[in-house]
Amino acid sequence: MTAHGIRGTFFDFVDDPWKHVGREADSARFLVDGLLVIEDGRIIDFGIYEETARRHPSLAITPIRDRLILPGFIDGHIHFPQTRVLGAFGEQLLPWLQRWVFPEELKYEDRDYARDAARRFFDNLLAAGTTTCQAFTTSAPVATEELFDEAGRRNMRLIAGLTGIDRLAPAEYMRSASSFYADSKRLIERYHRRGRNLYAITPRYALGATPELLDACRRLKQEHPDCWVNTHISEDTSEVSAVVEAHPGCADYLAIYEKYGLTGPKFTGGHGIWLSDDEFGRLARSGSAICFCPCSNLFLGSGLFRLGRATDPRSRVRLSWGTDVGAGNRFSLLGVLDEAYKVGMCNAGRLHDRPEEAERNKVSPYRGFWSVTLGGAEGLYVDDLVGNFEPGKEADFVVLDWKAGPSSLTWRQSLIAGEEGPTTVDQAADLLFGVMMVGDDRAVDETWIMGKRLYRKGGK
Ligand code: GUN
Ligand code: ZN
Repeated sequence: MTAHGIRGTFFDFVDDPWKHVGREADSARFLVDGLLVIEDGRIIDFGIYEETARRHPSLAITPIRDRLILPGFIDGHIHFPQTRVLGAFGEQLLPWLQRWVFPEELKYEDRDYARDAARRFFDNLLAAGTTTCQAFTTSAPVATEELFDEAGRRNMRLIAGLTGIDRLAPAEYMRSASSFYADSKRLIERYHRRGRNLYAITPRYALGATPELLDACRRLKQEHPDCWVNTHISEDTSEVSAVVEAHPGCADYLAIYEKYGLTGPKFTGGHGIWLSDDEFGRLARSGSAICFCPCSNLFLGSGLFRLGRATDPRSRVRLSWGTDVGAGNRFSLLGVLDEAYKVGMCNAGRLHDRPEEAERNKVSPYRGFWSVTLGGAEGLYVDDLVGNFEPGKEADFVVLDWKAGPSSLTWRQSLIAGEEGPTTVDQAADLLFGVMMVGDDRAVDETWIMGKRLYRKGGK
């Protein structure tokens, strides 16, 4: 394969901005005139245009002007079969599942329905600038197959798995622990590390799992230690009080997953709103991750995630951030940043006695965009593959038009950078803050996967 280059203005991260209090810009890398060199879908060089171009004479170069180029967004928690129940009115988690979600997810037993939905799912991801996601499927293997197959056709990085439930769902939706085990095993063999697909052993949540189902997950993880584990944890107060009754002998929610050997690196629990300090400490020590899903948490009224606690440097918990579509009401990680900022400010406003924790709740553009790129990759343990523009990584990126959106955004942005665009890292960060707080998906101009443009706004 011959190499090709992208010339433009780049913004990515080399470190965690929560480690750089008061000098967050040190975590970012901003190249006003940069060059990204790609070969066979991977980044082989990256740097200032003048210097980098010299190392690659006769390189074919695509110029991208008047835009900010960022690593593709990473959605740590999304439900493939819930696109059609986006914006379902009026319920909190447990009744919402029964009334809206399970009836829709049942339709994914039909392969044609699942295949059509998979196309729409990836179209929506790409239009939102999302290039990697960790997804739930349904209890029916065909839905998982169609999702992995479509990801393979688009060459997109996907972490997903058959989603097990054997309690508290309609009888026709549930599957036994033994069939979950057998189907998961077959799917792991067929899809894990095929192309860019990665397999996550996926018990839907401990409240919907018998000890037998969790034991099947334990066996799967023991037999396939390279696989990921994806689930929900401590999302809603009714769920939390019911779950310890369903699993007697476990002192708290996390203890259930610990009991079955599921925590540790590559484990993600979605939400974690009601985790105790002790649970946060155990998550940090074991290298487990939480996925913060503010759109969903506000939409269902589940609560406010304690971001300042999770990012405490004395026991830092790995995080990814996710939409949690369809409880989250949009595919956009820009929308997630918008709501994350507001959740953080609500927390910060109540922590007068703990000013440092209050401060850690504030989602600056550095913290926000790190969280949906390199930070999310670290949370999902895929930072060796994606998350920034380091040579060796896969060339997934998003091209943002910082002026596109409501006319109020265009006017706001002109206060920060004129026609010539941003010339400093802080200017670029301020434009990005405008995009996340005032803008929307209209800012996503192009989305590139493995060095190929797969989405262009308006189909231009
Ligand atoms: N807990 C168990 N299943 C689900 C789901 O589909 N969405 C959310 N938000 N929480 C869950
Ligand atoms: Zn979820």
